[in-house]
Amino acid sequence: ATSPSTAADSTKAGAGPVRLAIIFGLWYFFNVVFNIYNKKVLNVYPFPWLTSTLSLVAGTLFMLVSWAIRAQPAPRLSKEFLWALAPVALFHTIGHVAATVSMSKVAVSFTHIIKSSEPVFSVFVSSLFLGESFSLPVYLSLLPIVLGCSIAAVTELTFNAVGFWGAMISNVSFVFRNVFSKKGLINFKEIDGINLYAMITIVSLVYLTPLALFVEGPAAWTAGWNSATAQIGVQQLAWWMFLQSIFYHLYNQVSYMALDNISPLTFSVGNTMKRVVVIVAAIIVFKTKVTPLNAIGSAVAIFGTFLYSQAKAYSDKKQK
Ligand code: 3PG
Repeated sequence: ATSPSTAADSTKAGAGPVRLAIIFGLWYFFNVVFNIYNKKVLNVYPFPWLTSTLSLVAGTLFMLVSWAIRAQPAPRLSKEFLWALAPVALFHTIGHVAATVSMSKVAVSFTHIIKSSEPVFSVFVSSLFLGESFSLPVYLSLLPIVLGCSIAAVTELTFNAVGFWGAMISNVSFVFRNVFSKKGLINFKEIDGINLYAMITIVSLVYLTPLALFVEGPAAWTAGWNSATAQIGVQQLAWWMFLQSIFYHLYNQVSYMALDNISPLTFSVGNTMKRVVVIVAAIIVFKTKVTPLNAIGSAVAIFGTFLYSQAKAYSDKKQK
């Protein structure tokens, strides 16, 4: 599975179809808003380490307020939970910053096409590190993903090595996040999806802040701020940054709420569909030029992830 399995994986609350449809709708909508404003910011203010950190700051503040006003019950934390959380948050941090660095260098659509190949990494990491084996159809379904992504990459007009590798690192990192989540957090069923994601955010912020200061730092941020605000004004830039930060938290929070109610496999299909929506929205908003071969490659890759989910669902069912 390519989803960040939560502690609640094995205790599906059985949400009604209406509630689930609302959660999915919000997840996609929040994600599109995040991706658009994130890219708008990066186009004029290319500091992905800072903007990734600010997303986590927004999430942390949002949750501290939610706990303070009791909109959400605060979690009871144990040392064991924090130990189990530490690697999950570390890989979340790496995956998040790597994706943002990628989006600062290439078209949003390209980052998400590469990110749609996450199942390939999931299968290899699970085979190599967890000793899992997969059925032949599952392995075969990876071929169109790899082929489609390769065609999309070689025909991508905005291709850039940092952009490509950022998205690849994000894939590997999110797969490790999911592995550690599945292995380590399964015993903490009392923490719901919202609080689990809140804690991942807070610990990730602790990891990322010193790194962002080291990689970019206040001098570069200030110089960049002055030149960006000279172009579009303080209010505009601050508003875009606010939107990208808060919607980053919201889409992730809603996706963890979805995970409380659906299986990891359904989640990963939902996540791929989310990328289709984001890719189309970003191409329209940013008027991204897409060559026919590039579009074919992307479609083949996405179709491959669909085949993967079907093959995986079938072999999981047979195993049971
Ligand atoms: C990030 O900044 O963390 C990435 O945009 C994450 O992308 P995803 O949630 O769509 O995998």
